[in-house]
Amino acid sequence: MATPRTETARRAHIVGWGMAVPERVLSNGDLCAMVDTSDEWIRQRTGIVERHIAGEGETTLSLALRASQAALEVANLDPALLDLVVVATITPDYAFPATACLLQDALGAERAAAFDLSAGCSGFVYALSVAAGMIAAGDYKHCLVVGAETLSRITDWTDRNTCVLFGDGAGAVILEANGAQGGILSSVLGSDGSGKELLIQPAGGSAQPASAETVQARKHTVQMDGRQVFRFATRIMPDVSRRVLSKAGLTVEDVSLVIPHQANDRILQAAARNLGIDEGRVYSNLSRYGNTSSASIPIALCEAIEHGLVKRDAVLLLTGFGAGLTWAATLLRWSLPLPVPTPSRRMTFWRNLRYRWAQLRSHWRRFWRNVDARLFQILYDEEGRRKR
Ligand code: ACO
Repeated sequence: MATPRTETARRAHIVGWGMAVPERVLSNGDLCAMVDTSDEWIRQRTGIVERHIAGEGETTLSLALRASQAALEVANLDPALLDLVVVATITPDYAFPATACLLQDALGAERAAAFDLSAGCSGFVYALSVAAGMIAAGDYKHCLVVGAETLSRITDWTDRNTCVLFGDGAGAVILEANGAQGGILSSVLGSDGSGKELLIQPAGGSAQPASAETVQARKHTVQMDGRQVFRFATRIMPDVSRRVLSKAGLTVEDVSLVIPHQANDRILQAAARNLGIDEGRVYSNLSRYGNTSSASIPIALCEAIEHGLVKRDAVLLLTGFGAGLTWAATLLRWSLPLPVPTPSRRMTFWRNLRYRWAQLRSHWRRFWRNVDARLFQILYDEEGRRKR
């Protein structure tokens, strides 16, 4: 159920944030035992030192859930007040239903609409822009926007060109509608499907349904033309960044911190050079997480806040590129005083109770659906007519 429209002009403000990464760490040294590579090559060519890999039972949903619960805690918000849940991912738990629906159920976000968004590594910025637009239109008050991935599940662990790059993780933000100054200022999204082969998981869709052959040919894993993606990224990141700044009437000098998609340190350096911004204002945590696709920007945002790099009124530029090909940038002015007060124990207790209740509710609804089906069989004939 959507929040009723109001006449006040509203902006989307980030009021909660959270991240989650699996416990298991895979170092460059570990990878050397798996493929023909070296710690030196990976560090020099990518900047990556280690990455987190999902353990048994961990999925995109479980990471998204932890990140979302952390974000709700910071926002001190009851999940039942969420109007919308968007999960940006290219590694959903299932092709369908959407991971966002599973997340909505697990959180007990009873009145929220939910959908997944697939835009490769630009996914989180796309999702942020869509949710901010719905808030500005007056449709929603509280939106949960998540970027979550388990890329390790679609990685070819025999391909040194790709397996050294990726990691798993999730990041989430709560967007709130209010009339305060700042918040999301402008967004620019773009795409070019002619580059589909440059980054692709070829099989598993309607073009190449799963078969013994597709599995044997490793077509359910990421295939990438690294050099071409590299060239594309170094050009598109500065370009989309300039456009989003000009849309908001700001310049590079106004930007306090750039939070880019974490793909390769050399891409970040080249993009910073081309944009004319010093590297000190470009956040990088690539060495610890690798490329977590749509999760990389919200994870980096969480860390930047935690490390005190985000201050009130700071202008943040979030920018990414990815499979599609896609690219995206969002500019926001941070409006929340930091640090945020710790929520009262009563509210935290209430939220935890809500998560337990959500589990029970989910079991109950599944149970009741079965009972309902049995009752229907007893009371109605095959044409749906009431039996006499
Ligand atoms: N260890 C050792 N050598 C390697 C490795 C490795 N892990 N990987 C490649 N090499 C070799 C190559 O075989 C090649 O050898 P050759 O010259 O004998 O053929 C040599 O290193 C150079 O290869 P390049 O591809 O030119 O290496 P480059 O410097 O371009 O780095 C990389 C490769 C890291 C992949 C870079 O091109 C890159 O970062 N591209 C962008 C990737 C990206 O951002 N992808 C987004 C994915 S997001 C998503 O969709 C999930």
